Amino acid sequence: MEPITTIQDLRQLAKRRIPRAIFEYADRGSYDERTIAANRADLAAMKLRQRVMIDVSQRSLATTIVGEPVTMPLAIAPTGLTGLYHRDGEICGARAAQAAGIPFCLSTMSICSIEDVAAAVAKPFWFQLYVMRDRGFVQSLVERAIAAKCSALVLTLDLQIQGQRHRDIKNGLSIPPRLTLSNALDIATKPAWAMGVLFGKRRTFGNLAGKAPGSDSLTTLSQWIAGQFDPSLSWRDVDWIRSIWPGKLILKGVLDVEDAKIAAGTGADAIVVSNHGGRQLDGAVSSISALPGIVQAIGDRTEILFDGGVQSGQDVLKALALGARACLMGKSFLYGLGAMGQAGVAKAIDIIRGELDVSMALTGVTDVKAVDRNVLAQGGTGLSGTAASVAAAVAEGEPGARANAPASAA
Ligand code: GLV
Repeated sequence: MEPITTIQDLRQLAKRRIPRAIFEYADRGSYDERTIAANRADLAAMKLRQRVMIDVSQRSLATTIVGEPVTMPLAIAPTGLTGLYHRDGEICGARAAQAAGIPFCLSTMSICSIEDVAAAVAKPFWFQLYVMRDRGFVQSLVERAIAAKCSALVLTLDLQIQGQRHRDIKNGLSIPPRLTLSNALDIATKPAWAMGVLFGKRRTFGNLAGKAPGSDSLTTLSQWIAGQFDPSLSWRDVDWIRSIWPGKLILKGVLDVEDAKIAAGTGADAIVVSNHGGRQLDGAVSSISALPGIVQAIGDRTEILFDGGVQSGQDVLKALALGARACLMGKSFLYGLGAMGQAGVAKAIDIIRGELDVSMALTGVTDVKAVDRNVLAQGGTGLSGTAASVAAAVAEGEPGARANAPASAA
């Protein structure tokens, strides 16, 4: 086998090692998958600016995210069903993240529970919250996150109603996973996965004991989400969350400037510019094209994190160039996990770290905190329309536009 050198290599390996239904749950997007494609295409279209003859012998990727020191501007995104990618997948992810010095965020829809992960790792992790109709249950989740000493709460704003992912329905994805006539052949070729997950201890939603969907198919899960998640969720609820959560608050799923202004007004410690990895509103703009406008509007008021298509260190550099403080990795994390468990997650982080380090050096920057639009080629945002003009304004250094990367590159 050739050495693994890219996130795509991990993706290919994961595809071979885990059942198709589980692989495609993360790999694919909603409806016609226009937005998931746009996330990748718009990042790919951006151009970096090569610089030479600058002393780059001393380099630093260290920074902070919501005040937490991190070894690089990257965190593991909350992803549902993670423990179905590999036995105890959330614990693998948390351990790999902690060893690498970056945050790990546990999803409400995880397989390992908050308590399982807290017992397995030494340092605090983040917890992602979905708000359900049963506010008593939501409060109990928050209380469990407090008891587990989670250091940040990531409130997801963009999944009151779930976008349909055709592949999940066609694949008959079920939780817990089941051996059926139609997946028997597929599972027979993935024995390590079957031993670890299918016949393993944790196979359903660890945080939802007593609340969990009546198992079976994803159709049941979507119906369960439709019945449980609160479609009336509104900005007023953020005040309530604030009142029951004493720690750092991160609002995830902002794609629009008007929403970003309201989000900043809540006093949240950070927002995540995100379209849920192209899994919700299909036809929405790419995350990267939304980033410059949001940075321009609120970059001086709150930290801006970025999520959506990040599969390399170059992608991270491009997001930082447009004003993100750090990126979240969702799919890239699950590819590593599905490929090789904890070692695969460590590999995914290492790949992105190495690429970011070298790309930063080749753009003539030695400190990641100093990355700014100077690392982009002239007109190199690759963005069109409003996003391009806003990016250009950001590039010209309009007040407030560069708060996340105040120092200038060499
Ligand atoms: C859950 O967050 C999902 O996107 O499936």
